[in-house]
Amino acid sequence: MNTYDFLVIGSGISGLNFALDAAEYGTVAIVTKKELMESNSNYAQGGIAAVLDSHDSFNAHVADTLTAGCHINDLNAVTLMITHAPAQIQKLIDIGVGFSRKKETLSLTQEGGHSTRRIAHAHDATGKEIERALIFHVRQHKNIHIFESHLAIDLMVKNNACQGAQVLNTEKKIIETFLAKATILASGGAGQVFERNCNPSVATGDGIAMAARAGAEIRDMEFIQFHPTALALDGKPTFLLSETIRGEGAILVNAKGERFMESQHELKEMAPRDIVARAIYEEMKHGPVYLDITHRESAYIKARFPYIYEQLWWYGIKMDKDRIPVAPAAHYTCGGVHTNLHGETNIPGLFAFGEVAHTGVHGANRLASNSLLECMVFSEQTVPTAVAYATTHPIEEQTTTNNVVYVPSNIANIKKEIQHLMWNHVGIIRHEDELDETLHTIKDIQSNLETLQKNGRDEMLIETKNLADVAIIITKAAIARKESIGCHFIEN
Ligand code: SIN
Repeated sequence: MNTYDFLVIGSGISGLNFALDAAEYGTVAIVTKKELMESNSNYAQGGIAAVLDSHDSFNAHVADTLTAGCHINDLNAVTLMITHAPAQIQKLIDIGVGFSRKKETLSLTQEGGHSTRRIAHAHDATGKEIERALIFHVRQHKNIHIFESHLAIDLMVKNNACQGAQVLNTEKKIIETFLAKATILASGGAGQVFERNCNPSVATGDGIAMAARAGAEIRDMEFIQFHPTALALDGKPTFLLSETIRGEGAILVNAKGERFMESQHELKEMAPRDIVARAIYEEMKHGPVYLDITHRESAYIKARFPYIYEQLWWYGIKMDKDRIPVAPAAHYTCGGVHTNLHGETNIPGLFAFGEVAHTGVHGANRLASNSLLECMVFSEQTVPTAVAYATTHPIEEQTTTNNVVYVPSNIANIKKEIQHLMWNHVGIIRHEDELDETLHTIKDIQSNLETLQKNGRDEMLIETKNLADVAIIITKAAIARKESIGCHFIEN
């Protein structure tokens, strides 16, 4: 049995940031189902939003966040996040994050929904650079113990308090118990619920599914953000094409070469994501849609977007010469495990932050580059609360027996079926009758998976059951929300 003060499930930016701070007060275990670096954060291209320019203001950043979120955001959460943003950028610089600079000052880029340039970035691979710096420090801290290839199965809740988790060691194929005074969900979102998504394979909504099974309150799951521009090339990955490409002048054109966003929104390609995603989706009924930045200088494109340029080159596209075929893809889970501003959930001993969590900061649609910011701010806000909890709540004596055994499954087809159903019927444009029918079908799938897991589980079954659980939560939330707002669009 492994016993720690803090158990962090997930190794994205929020989990690593929390671990570093909390390790000053006690022992920390980080369990992560692949390698430490493999998380949604690692693939964040755009950047991290903060008021860093004298022409900008907290009020403007708040206003943009509320506009994107359709004003159903929690204003306290938004204000807290935005006023803490500049200090978080400084903290990242202090730990060695190499943000792109123009001479001495940070280079600020633009993304959809922002009224000004306020995105600090590390070229076009900001998440990777922040992860690199955090991991460097995490690996050196004597109080932090890293468990890669460890997939959390379920939270251990005893006497209405969370005391750790049961975890599958996917290399040894054994189930292990991790006991902790405070358990922290930092396990990211659920983009893999949808067939077309630009998330890494790890984004299967495990934290949301586990928390829901344990009785945590889950909110706003109908708000799945579809990124407007992911690569749409047969046989190639749904590779994200950062909004910062449009921020630096790229336009969207249809098969006839017409710039169709001009007639859709005053901000054109820089309109909030839900608007651009739906416009592309509609335009694609008549033919392919392309992202075009060929009017900018080749040297500039290669220097500003080195990662994207190289990836596209491997896929046979020269970004400085060719138009890039694009289509929307599931990108970000705006809802999640409900917490207050200090990461506390309704289950004592269970904390959450980052994409797995719901503070209300995003409302009905997240503003670009507020997600890495959310990770930094709310993980830091959670440290004092979790430390206070761990100090006053010793681990109760456990008589836990592992009730899970490892049995290989072969159910890739079921995963694909869930993803296909969700993309086609609970996607960018939703219809009430289809939502009802899909809920019914996925409940049947969930029940089959429950029967299967009575014999034992492997990583595929655990993740697929989590996908089914989260798909049901999303679909129920979409059925309950009758009006179209933000990322949730109902057509009757
Ligand atoms: C992007 O670079 O377009 C993604 C950034 C984000 O989702 O905030």
